Order: sequence, then structure tokens, then C-alpha cells
Amino acid sequence: MTITTNSRSLSLAALTIGAAVYASSSAAMMGGGCMMGCTSTTVIDPPRGAAFADPATLPNLSTTPGVVEVNLEAKIAPVDINGTTANLQTYNGLFPGPTIKVKKGDILKVHFKNSLPYTGVNDMGMPRDMTNLHTHGLHVSPAGNADNVLVHFLSGETFDYEYDLSLHRGGNLNFYHPHVHGNVAEQVWAGQAGALEVADESAVLSGYETHTLVLKDITLSGGAPAAHTSSDFMNGKEGDTMMVNGQVNPVLAMRPGQVQRWKIVNASNARFYKLSLASHSLRVVGTDGGLLDKPYAQSTVLLSPGERVDVLVKASSTKGYYKLQALPYNRGAGDSANQQITLMTVNVTGSSLSQSLPATVDPSATRLSVPANALTRQITLSMGMGMMGGGSATINGIAFSDTEAYTITSGRETYEVWEIYNQSMMDHPFHQHVNPAQVISISGGDSAYNALYTTTPAWKDTVIVPAMGSVKLLVPVKDYGGTTVFHCHILEHEDMGMMGIWNIQ
Ligand code: C2O
Ligand code: CU
Ligand code: CU
Repeated sequence: MTITTNSRSLSLAALTIGAAVYASSSAAMMGGGCMMGCTSTTVIDPPRGAAFADPATLPNLSTTPGVVEVNLEAKIAPVDINGTTANLQTYNGLFPGPTIKVKKGDILKVHFKNSLPYTGVNDMGMPRDMTNLHTHGLHVSPAGNADNVLVHFLSGETFDYEYDLSLHRGGNLNFYHPHVHGNVAEQVWAGQAGALEVADESAVLSGYETHTLVLKDITLSGGAPAAHTSSDFMNGKEGDTMMVNGQVNPVLAMRPGQVQRWKIVNASNARFYKLSLASHSLRVVGTDGGLLDKPYAQSTVLLSPGERVDVLVKASSTKGYYKLQALPYNRGAGDSANQQITLMTVNVTGSSLSQSLPATVDPSATRLSVPANALTRQITLSMGMGMMGGGSATINGIAFSDTEAYTITSGRETYEVWEIYNQSMMDHPFHQHVNPAQVISISGGDSAYNALYTTTPAWKDTVIVPAMGSVKLLVPVKDYGGTTVFHCHILEHEDMGMMGIWNIQ
């Protein structure tokens, strides 16, 4: 197969190469997805690994107050994955990428360098070295040299990004990753993902020991990330190795009665994590876009790709090991439907430390009511077999390409209601850039997830639209004009075309 351009018509043809593979794996997918009744769950319980470690922090090169200046280089580097050395696509040689730390009001300057080597084109017809940087979750301008995903760089190119954080809400965890349509799935799969933390605006949570958890899966083959197949594009690629900050089943120490704060991002391409900590509840204090009014205790927290959650955990008074697991969740595809995976182990040990939980977190967080003049739109997500047996992934019938995209034009300083319908048999995490939203309602899916996001003052930029279900979002269109995007955050679906353009005027 020789494809030398990034033409969309060629990319469809490329997908047909694996049509036979897809046909046979769709039968497997039904069994894996428990559509015909689940009988067995695979328990994945790796031995306890090394001590938990937070991702490295990216050093701030600026001495000017209010300016954070960092160097970020996309490059291939050897990384130890559970005892095997693999060449991953990294930021600054690290996996996960180093955490960028900023606060509201800062100017963030990122000196970006693309040192990925040119290694030919992928099955979508894209040169594999072409990349860029997206700051998922930041309420910043999508234009110019800010969060502009329409600019792309080839091997050897450099670019200075600059983000003005004066209008971003404080207190949330964000997610940086590449965003070149047709290259996103492979590059994130191969390791290009990191956390971007915006500090809290108040001190309510500052007394707690705090950790960042980047959840990511991978499969290695021949000392490198395993290649995508066309069925991976239809299903979304899941790995066989599940990691927290690049480690398999790390051990996090807590003292009896201690309260810790965990900021968690799902940086996986397609795997959902239904998190549960043995004998403990997870008290949600923040979501994608910021802090909640108070903690909400949950026995499970479902996290799809691109979503973040900020939780408090109060350790038991009983010493011992407690597993943080991902419980089976059927997203309509993938092995995760019948896997129960130990992601991390909490070791409650040492002298007790009786810390109390806060009664309130951010009293200013409120649920908005829908303004009478809000404009309502319908957005329909579909998957199907394409013309020649290859896959298609569309929004309102259109697969995103260089020449065509479903386009929304919004007025600045307005409110919109987006009714998002899923006409496929698998869940799609719907993500919009620049403006976080509140969730009015969700039909279908996980009831604990739905209750959390439709009754609390949660700001969301990524929301699961359940298979054959729907979601209604209240989207305040605030502050910034420009051209940006919305898409499915199963990154293979985004690359296949489940993305639209959002023009804000
Ligand atoms: Cu996480 Cu369009 O991005
Ligand atoms: Cu994003
Ligand atoms: Cu999708």
C-alpha cells in the first residue's frame, strides 16, 4: 500500500484493507461487549509494583511573576514499561509527559519543538512526524498562537505557543496532547500525553497531600507501541498494560485516617475506567472544568478518555492494602467490558493521622438554569460501514476532512443547548474545546455517572454520550472568538471523522 498524500478519499480506501479483520472482530466485540449475556470477567491483578510517583513537573524557566515559560519537545525516547524498555513518543523524553503547572491569570509560554523523526505516512495518509499541541480543558483563545489546533508542524520545526489564563476558572486538571486530525490516535497511543494543572483559587483543599494520576494503557510489540489495525479504528484501541503515571500497580502509602487528594486524568485513547477503591468511597470535589460546591461521595467513578476528576480519599483506620480497581464497564466495544483491573494499591500504614473532610469546597459553584433565549442545536453521532466496507464515523452525517466538516457558528456571549444523540452501539465521549458546559440531562449509560453530572454544579468539557442514548448540554459561549472543534474523544473516532468545526463569532 502506498499512500503519499493525506487525502480523505485515500484514507477510506486505506481502512478497507482491514475490512475482513473488522468483520470477524465485530462478532468478538459483541461477546466482549456482553450484548449476549456476560458470563466471565477476566481479573487482571498484577503484583504490587514500585512506590507511586507523581509525573515530573516541567520546570518554569521564567522569573517574571505571572509568567510560566516551559520547553516542550516531542521526541522518541526509551521508556521503561513494567520492566520492558520501549521507544515511545514522548514529551521531553518522559512518559507520561511532565506536568505543566500554572495558575489563573498567568501567561503560559510553551517553546515547542517537534523532534519526531519522519517515518513515512500512516494508514490515514498522514506524515507520522506531523504534530502540534492542544491544551484540553483550558478556557483560552483558540486563535493565533494560543490553543490553535489548526496549525501543524513537521519534523524539526519549532513554535512558541502563548496562552492567557486570565479568564480560565481556577482549580482544575487539564490534559495536553497532539491534535493533528488523522494523527491523534497513533501519537497519543504512543505516549504523547501529559497533565496541565491550574492551581486552586482558595485554600480549602491545600492542607491535603495531593497527587496526580495519569491513567493510560498501551500494548507493546517489538520494543515499540503496537500498530493500529482498522478494527482498532472502529472500536477504539485498548492496550493490555494499564498504568498509573507509567507504572503498573504502583503502591501509594497513606496513613490511617489521612485524607489525600487525587487529581485523575484519563489519557487513554479509548479505554474507560470505572474506578473503585476497596472499602473506601471516592469523594468527588472537582470535575473537568473546576471545583464543586462540596464533596460528593461515590462508590464508583466512571472516567472516559479526556475526562478528569478530582477526588478526596479518607484512608481507613484499619491498616492494610486496598486495591484501586477499574471494574468492568460495557462501552459497546473493547475488552474492558469484562475486565476487572487492579490499577494501583493503597497501603494504609504508619501512625494514624485523623484528618477531616471539608464540608464545603467552592461555594461559588452553582448549577445554571437554561436562559429562555438559548439556541438549541441537534448533533448526531454515527458509526457505520463505509462505501467499500471500511469504517465511517460522522457528525450529522459528515466525516471531518480537509474539505468538509459539520460546522456550527455561534455568537459570542450567548448560551446554547446542545442535544447530542448517539445513533451507534457504542458510547462516545463528546468533547468541545474552549468552553466548558453543564450537563442538563443524560439518557442511557451509567446511573451513578448521570446522577453526578446532572445534579451537581459540575463543569464538563467531555461527557459520555451512551450507546443509542443522548446528552443535553448547556454551553455558555464565552469570551473568545475563533475557529475550534468538538469531537469524540475516542481518538480513533476523531481521526476517522467524528469531529466538527465550531466557529465562534
Ligand atoms: Cu483532548 Cu480536541 O481534545
Ligand atoms: Cu480538547
Ligand atoms: Cu467515538
